[in-house]
Amino acid sequence: MKAKQVTLVNRPDGAPTTSDFAIEEVDLPSPKHGEVLVKNHWMSVDPYMRLSLSGPDGLHGIMPLGDVPSGGAVGEIVESNVDTLSVGQMVVSPAMGWREAYVSIAEGLTPIDDSAGPIQRILGIYGLTGVTAWGGINGVLKPQSGETLFINGAAGAVGSVALQLAKKAGAAVIGSAGSDAKCNWVTDTLGADHCINYKSENVKERLAELAPDGIEMFFDNVGGEQLEIAIDAMKPRGRMALCGAIALYDGENYRTGPDNLFAIIEKHVSMTGFNAGFYYDRAPKIIAEFAAAIASGDLIWEETVAHGIADAPRAFVDMLAGANSGKMLVKL
Ligand SMILES: NC(=O)c1ccc[n+]([C@@H]2O[C@H](COP(=O)([O-])OP(=O)(O)OC[C@H]3O[C@@H](n4cnc5c(N)ncnc54)[C@H](OP(=O)(O)O)[C@@H]3O)[C@@H](O)[C@H]2O)c1
Repeated sequence: MKAKQVTLVNRPDGAPTTSDFAIEEVDLPSPKHGEVLVKNHWMSVDPYMRLSLSGPDGLHGIMPLGDVPSGGAVGEIVESNVDTLSVGQMVVSPAMGWREAYVSIAEGLTPIDDSAGPIQRILGIYGLTGVTAWGGINGVLKPQSGETLFINGAAGAVGSVALQLAKKAGAAVIGSAGSDAKCNWVTDTLGADHCINYKSENVKERLAELAPDGIEMFFDNVGGEQLEIAIDAMKPRGRMALCGAIALYDGENYRTGPDNLFAIIEKHVSMTGFNAGFYYDRAPKIIAEFAAAIASGDLIWEETVAHGIADAPRAFVDMLAGANSGKMLVKL
């Protein structure tokens, strides 16, 4: 069987471009005993993938040039030499995205069905995105009624879910996002009280206007300048959940810290970094909670969808540049 896949052909210096990737066609071998052939239906593009394309080295490592990037995918078993996986079964893999099809052993492939909703949600609200949003809000920040949350990346996958969880807990929410259209969606559809367009407004001044006494909570998807602004805006004993730092991913060192860290000592602020991996043991409960909330109309889940393996590099580059509302996915 022939299958197309994406490879990394150039290390980006700054923002990745589609020319950093190539599409190649490969001949897949027939699956041997203990192996399956999987045809992917969906793949995910996520900010963390940027960290493997060029240094500094971190949790995800730096991938070799010529390799296929790693990423989540949902696929269908089309040939099976494994007793536990039959033809037609849908499986999710955390690593075998960026390709139309692959041959694999069963380990690492998790059988899934669409009983909780469209199958691709396992790459978003019922997977990494949802567990991250839940962990940051319910595991770290634990919002109380009457408190104010500032959350950036508010129109993105994690941010759009996290802000709705905070609203449901009774908090006031100030979001930030990269366009007026996104900000309108964040307030009018997702229910945030305010949204700052960080590209056209002064975030520090606007946040001071919207929360003159300061904020109790901060959910950080962006890092950099917005993190420093939030530290200055924290009330004494405030809580910060550090989820990501996408504003730094194209720079020399995304692992660097803010300049005003001492203010968290002065104000007795707690700053908790977190990783979805610490909450995956609760995934079945989180998925059930989200499925019920989506079904009843209490939770809005949005997907921005690109089509075909050839468009995967553009979907990834565009997601990093802010073209998505909610989760960016590629339908294969
Ligand atoms: N800790 C964990 O376990 C975990 C898990 C998943 C994701 N994350 C992190 O959570 C964050 C959001 O991830 P996601 O999957 O939900 O992605 P996403 O928010 O759906 O997509 C990325 C968004 O980042 C925004 N962005 C890009 N460059 C920016 C900049 N310089 N300043 C401000 N915003 C910028 C863009 O929106 P605008 O149009 O608003 O600019 C873009 O749409 C990322 O930092 C990611 O690394 C962490």
